[in-house]
Amino acid sequence: MRRILVAGNWKMHGSTAMVQDLLEDLLAGVDKQSDVDMAVFPPFPYLAQARSVLNGSSISWGAQNLNPISQGAHTGEVSAGMLLDFGCRYVLAGHSERRAIYGETDEDVADRFEAALASGLEPVLCVGETLEERERGETEAVVERQLDAVLRRCGVAGFERAIVAYEPVWAIGTGKTASPEQAQAVHAFIRDKFVSQDDIIAGQLRILYGGSVNGSNAADLFAREDIDGGLVGGASLKAEDFLAIRNAVA
Ligand code: 13P
Repeated sequence: MRRILVAGNWKMHGSTAMVQDLLEDLLAGVDKQSDVDMAVFPPFPYLAQARSVLNGSSISWGAQNLNPISQGAHTGEVSAGMLLDFGCRYVLAGHSERRAIYGETDEDVADRFEAALASGLEPVLCVGETLEERERGETEAVVERQLDAVLRRCGVAGFERAIVAYEPVWAIGTGKTASPEQAQAVHAFIRDKFVSQDDIIAGQLRILYGGSVNGSNAADLFAREDIDGGLVGGASLKAEDFLAIRNAVA
């Protein structure tokens, strides 16, 4: 049985005071036993704070990006080893904002995924189509192309310790959630693709949905067969809202 994972991508938001309050409020809200896993993805400068507050708790943390090179003259970049040094378990690879704003290609994303795996981090591969691509009927082709770049590099075995997040770009930060049916259809497509290569890995793979998840729509989404949790943006910045998502399924 796959455990639900509720993951909060804080994007470029936060301050020391805000992060402290948010982490402490989340910790206070997850004291009861539950079958739901939780993780937060703060900006790099707050990873040390996440470690200090969350260490030993049931909440994991990860980073939003990494540079695939291990060290060197790469001003402004952060390596997998550095993330591990701060106790990260996860790292996002290929978030649509990285692809769209910072020009990360499918190959760049595969580099990051591969470096994360090699270091012992668990990559969260983000895939998803734009509105134009959906309207042209290209959703599956786009998602498949994004998955294939990583599959070619790391093989299906690379997904034994990885997570996939389906995040339709048109649903991110727009308040326009994919319906549970729309999301489930793409999740099933993703899982089927893995089934054809290794049905054990496919059966264990957690596929998260991201895009305007909130406390009111989470239960319906996460009840679908192939939706194993959420990658939450805006609603993960307020403990009350983020915990509402977790409690919708806990
Ligand atoms: P929102 O939940 O704000 O739509 O963001 C989703 C997202 O991009 C998570 O990575």
